[in-house]
Amino acid sequence: MNKELNGVGIIGIGSAVPEKILTNADLEKMVDTSDEWITKRTGISERRILDKDTPVYELGVKAAQKAIEDAGITAEDIDLIIAATTSPDYLFPQMACLIQAKIGAKKAAAFDLNAACSGFVYGLTVAQNFLLNGQYKYILVIGCEGLSRMVDWEDRNTCVLFGDAAGAVVLGAVDNKYGILSTHIGADGEMGNVLTMPCCYITEEDIKVREHENKKVMWMDGQEVFKFAVKIMEQASLKVIEGANLSIEDVNYVFPHQANTRIIDGALKRLGMKSDKIHPIIQKYGNISSASIPVALDEAVKEGKIKKGDNLVLVGFGGGLTWGSALIKWAK
Ligand code: ACO
Repeated sequence: MNKELNGVGIIGIGSAVPEKILTNADLEKMVDTSDEWITKRTGISERRILDKDTPVYELGVKAAQKAIEDAGITAEDIDLIIAATTSPDYLFPQMACLIQAKIGAKKAAAFDLNAACSGFVYGLTVAQNFLLNGQYKYILVIGCEGLSRMVDWEDRNTCVLFGDAAGAVVLGAVDNKYGILSTHIGADGEMGNVLTMPCCYITEEDIKVREHENKKVMWMDGQEVFKFAVKIMEQASLKVIEGANLSIEDVNYVFPHQANTRIIDGALKRLGMKSDKIHPIIQKYGNISSASIPVALDEAVKEGKIKKGDNLVLVGFGGGLTWGSALIKWAK
């Protein structure tokens, strides 16, 4: 128990990406597409892809070890591991348990959380509450994805978009003026059918209507997701800015889920913000789902862009449909 806890924030951060690069030129040889189409419509030039013998959770292990080292603690100090993922190697053992065993976080409880690309922000929100109520002292939240394992490599509509990566943070006590100042999560299950990935239940109708369901690969109505994303990113950002009693002018950086440069530009425009508020990674990594926010944040921190006291908006959207946002006053 940790009753004196005042504020909760990120005290350590790390990330990992596979070495193998798949460029748009490589994809031109695999499906009917072009570098020009992909770059213009999405902003993506290349993505990182895991080799087939490496499990996805290995990326989470690497990111977690870096975050723990950055926090100046040991794996045995961790009380809880939350792995936000839509692409676990197994339904069970859960990715969080596989990571727990590999890093030696012997006393930690562990579970997976699936809120698609919003998963990392959902994970932060859950972790914050465990810390605020004093139950735990250190929580590891990891966004870890191997979406290259889930896309249909014959479907140009989806296979050009995604990549593999992991980002991790350790959350713990910070001075009460800093850390997570407000959070907001939401879902609209009625829109769930615009972005789907079948698992254990497939109806006869699904199989008749959509061949992809039978193949157990991802499917999406890109334009519906696009419209939803631009709108919800604006609304969710405003929610946490207001929740922290701040205004748009007080925000130093926005870390959006990076699915498409045009979605990010659209959301920024609605917020009246300039593009220099973003640390872009989509060009080199593609859409890395729940890993995109922590990977971008880690790289921005390592590049020295983020200073103590900066106000950061983290905002994600994804399958479900789901969304989540957090306002963090950087504490390190
Ligand atoms: N190369 C060439 N042509 C293509 C490709 C490709 N890779 N993909 C689609 N096209 C074609 C289509 O077949 C279509 O051709 P048609 O007009 O002859 O039918 C044409 O390009 C236009 O297709 P649109 O779908 O209208 O293209 P759009 O401009 O909407 O861009 C995109 C598609 C990039 C998918 C966009 O809609 C988007 O980014 N949507 C949001 C996606 C997203 O955020 N997904 C998040 C999922 S992450 C998660 O939660 C796991």
